[in-house]
Amino acid sequence: MATQNVAFQRKAWQASNYSQNIEGSKTLAVTAKVAELRRQGIEVISLGAGEPDFNTPAAICEAAIRAIHDGQTKYTPNAGIFELRQAIAEFLNAMGGDYAPEEILVSNGAKQSIVNALFATLDVGDEVLLPTPYWTSYPEQIKMAGGTCVFLPTSANQHYKIHLEQLEEAATAKTKLLILNSPSNPTGMVYTKDELEAICHFCLEHDILILSDEIYIQLIYDAIETGSLASFPEIRQQLLLVNGFSKSHAMTGWRLGYLAAKTPFIQAAMKIQSHTTSNACSISQYAALAALNMPEDELKLMKDEFKRRRDYTADRLSAMPGIELVRPQGAFYLFPSVEQYFGRSADGIVIHSAMDLSQYLLDAARIAVVPGEAFGAPGNIRISYATSMENLQTAMDRMEEALHRLQ
Ligand SMILES: Cc1ncc(COP(=O)(O)O)c(C=O)c1O
Repeated sequence: MATQNVAFQRKAWQASNYSQNIEGSKTLAVTAKVAELRRQGIEVISLGAGEPDFNTPAAICEAAIRAIHDGQTKYTPNAGIFELRQAIAEFLNAMGGDYAPEEILVSNGAKQSIVNALFATLDVGDEVLLPTPYWTSYPEQIKMAGGTCVFLPTSANQHYKIHLEQLEEAATAKTKLLILNSPSNPTGMVYTKDELEAICHFCLEHDILILSDEIYIQLIYDAIETGSLASFPEIRQQLLLVNGFSKSHAMTGWRLGYLAAKTPFIQAAMKIQSHTTSNACSISQYAALAALNMPEDELKLMKDEFKRRRDYTADRLSAMPGIELVRPQGAFYLFPSVEQYFGRSADGIVIHSAMDLSQYLLDAARIAVVPGEAFGAPGNIRISYATSMENLQTAMDRMEEALHRLQ
């Protein structure tokens, strides 16, 4: 009995080994740091945000209020209300897809959709090909689902996009899945139709699933021949398509995303969701339905504004000595290389890494950026332009001045 108590005492206060192996979100950590500084009365311009600064369009908010008054405040079916699944299928089909409502699973944000997709497809030890720089959550999500990350490093020279040779070199008998994210967080790069086609053919030949995270697909600013993987019929059996409303409709807080895939994958993911969060928020589902039915004009206004900011910040950064930027084509991030500043110093502070430079920019210029270490790219920093033009102008002035002081 006594021995049992000792064993119990030793473990009770410890977090599980499983959780200790998972790192918290580094981008959310920057948000928390900014909030803390502001609480202390320190004025900081945050270029760390992964969310649009716009308010959710009024038509969406009104639909949510209507849903509350109509009593749509109960559990919904696990996979989401039928009308929304149908509207999502129609949205994807308008982009060249061929989905039925039963092939859609609505979740609490695309983040949950990705986790569901990974749990529904991976067995312990399965390898997942992950292009680097990657969105900060993928490696931890893969780990949580028992998978093993195989990183595919990309450079500015290749515009941060993987080459076929890299896939050929990395694929093994254990490779189960490739994650694609176009437009990319953090680089803003977009794969062309030809590049996507070649990747699809490779995955078909090698029996590899593709998880295509298309959360930024409505935010592409240049005339690029590209598209949703929904429009590639040959890959459909092997495609797990993820999208959501957070970025395109300024709905981050509503937590609404979805997975589109063949029925066996959807059913597997539904089982997982049925034991974790059940359905996505009922009110958010009605809001999302309104989002899909609203006129495009308001979305275009937001997109045009993002483009204007992309152009401004990209021009400013490109003109700063020592900064190397591959001009992003989509999403709302810039991902310049800052390696030329490593080894320089100001006021006794030496910059050794992107993490050091980010801290320096916070202290010396009161601007918050996310160090590239969060995305597996320690030579870069991520700058979000999801903030006002006025903030961007001040931030670029302050950054230029602070970098100038580094000798
Ligand atoms: C690439 C990428 N995928 C997925 C998500 C998650 O979005 P959601 O708010 O729908 O969970 C994000 C959010 O930052 C993202 O950048």
